[in-house]
Amino acid sequence: MKPSADFVFDIWYFAGLSPDVKRGKMVRREIAGEPITLGRQENGTLFAIRDICPHRAAPFSEGCIKGGTVECPYHGWRFGIEDGACKEIPALTSDQAMETEKIKVRTFPVREEDQLIWVYIASDKRFVGPPPIDPPSFPFATSKATMDDDLILNCHVDHAVIGLMDPAHGPYVHRQWWWRSQKSMHEKAKRFEPRERGFAMAAHTPSSNSFAYKLLGGKPITEITFQLPGIRTEEIKVGKKTLLSFTAVTPINENHTHIRQIFFTDMWLIKFLAPLLKPFAQKFLRQDADMVDLQQMGLKHDPTLLLIEDSDTQAKWYHAIKREWTKSRDEGRDFKNPVKVKVLKWRS
Ligand code: FES
Ligand SMILES: [Fe+2]
Repeated sequence: MKPSADFVFDIWYFAGLSPDVKRGKMVRREIAGEPITLGRQENGTLFAIRDICPHRAAPFSEGCIKGGTVECPYHGWRFGIEDGACKEIPALTSDQAMETEKIKVRTFPVREEDQLIWVYIASDKRFVGPPPIDPPSFPFATSKATMDDDLILNCHVDHAVIGLMDPAHGPYVHRQWWWRSQKSMHEKAKRFEPRERGFAMAAHTPSSNSFAYKLLGGKPITEITFQLPGIRTEEIKVGKKTLLSFTAVTPINENHTHIRQIFFTDMWLIKFLAPLLKPFAQKFLRQDADMVDLQQMGLKHDPTLLLIEDSDTQAKWYHAIKREWTKSRDEGRDFKNPVKVKVLKWRS
């Protein structure tokens, strides 16, 4: 991958929900330019291995799991899922001695916490682990997802992340009777604070111009967080009940970004209404995707972009956090969060 791809490394990427990978099965992922086979052994343990056979490049994800190895679908070479070393080349005859173990495939550390699967991608391709940091933890994501949607955006991950945290596009891109209109625009002031590898819009009562919140009943308190590489959560609490909206923005390659939005909740009303609400949530994401496509018309000319205070401050923070993360990794020191407590004001 060219350095111009400008992805974040030495970090855990979201790779899916637990039910995505069944026992004895593999699924293919492409994360930050790396093709990855994500598989689950019969005993339930997950593994992640580069999805390119070193022989003639067939994808392991189309092969099968055999014992502690993956078997390539093309000529049956088998590689250990722990060490990535070649254990067998079926075409070799008994008198053809070859040190197959010297042929290696990259493996990736993988973690499954609650319902979430994470894959660690190091900048050093020979890194075998263990990773120096833990994946983010979302203790509320233990139950089955109530809603689950995904989409591919035709843009670099930076534009996808910034688009997601941009507070000023709502009244234009998501203009619809059941959400909000330009007329309902008003001035807002929200307190932000640094959080692990990111920041949070501190807990607040959401704007009364959001009709959808009224559906939740009671007085909702919401907190929105962002964390590198591209994890955004919105946690809405009404009394003792919670709705966690978890969004992972993951680079596929330079020009494509995967976005997955999952809702976890113990609010019976939301669970009950989920099938009805899904099309509305889907519409939101697709409106963003359509805007990304329009934006590409301009971006392909590589123009200089303008970020303004305060409505684009979160975008500036994202860039600053990303730069500092990579710099701190290169220099082998702790990450120093560049975000300071601040009240941001904008109209939306
Ligand atoms: S391409 Fe995988 S064994 Fe030949
Ligand atoms: Fe949006």
